[in-house]
Amino acid sequence: MEIEKLFYQSPNFETDRLLLRKLSLADAEDYFRVASNAEVTAQTIWARHTVIEDSINYIQGVLEKYRKREAFHWGIIHKSTGRLIGRTGLIKIDQEHEKAELGYVLSSDYWSQGIITEATKMIIEYGFMELGLNRIEARCNYNNPGSFKVMEKLGMQFEGLLRKQLKIKGQFLDQKLYSILRSDFIACFQDGSQG
Ligand SMILES: CC(C)(COP(=O)(O)OP(=O)(O)OC[C@H]1O[C@@H](n2cnc3c(N)ncnc32)[C@H](O)[C@@H]1OP(=O)(O)O)[C@@H](O)C(=O)NCCC(=O)NCCS
Repeated sequence: MEIEKLFYQSPNFETDRLLLRKLSLADAEDYFRVASNAEVTAQTIWARHTVIEDSINYIQGVLEKYRKREAFHWGIIHKSTGRLIGRTGLIKIDQEHEKAELGYVLSSDYWSQGIITEATKMIIEYGFMELGLNRIEARCNYNNPGSFKVMEKLGMQFEGLLRKQLKIKGQFLDQKLYSILRSDFIACFQDGSQG
């Protein structure tokens, strides 16, 4: 695996509608607009941001994980406005077992337009083909269809229900676990059948 490449390349990506680039402190204001929306945070592990400092602290934490080689988050910029509308990335990078987990969030103004699928497809391709990851996994609350549909559209397989996996906002919640292996990716995506 060549995970170091991720941290010295800090790669940018461009899709039809989006630009992806490393999340930075300069994004705090735009990120706050996303993370302060109660509709967005209804399904997240983290609490709604109520003051701009919450977003600054969050991004500082992201940069700390970047320094420790534990995670990499890309800001999602909509080309039509030039504004940051969400993030996607590789969290819980596990060098020993050559795997990572996906994490993403999007402004509710842009839900159900295929944005997170479009952005995260780039990350999965980069993770397998450039970094040499063997497995990418993702989890979401059992009752978050917007998220598990993204996982399915990305070619991930459902592996099972993690019972009462997390205590989120005072409630124990089941989570769905999905994964895609490099061998799945090569079989499904490299033959051109799913773009
Ligand atoms: C989950 C989330 C990232 C999805 O982003 P997105 O760009 O809207 O996702 P996509 O449009 O690529 O795909 C979502 C799919 O779920 C569907 N969907 C969305 N909400 C749904 C619902 N309540 N019930 C059923 N389907 C739903 C969409 O129609 C779409 O399917 P389609 O392409 O077949 O029409 C976004 O909703 C979000 O940020 N939610 C809040 C934070 C969150 O839940 N993060 C993930 C934590 S694991």
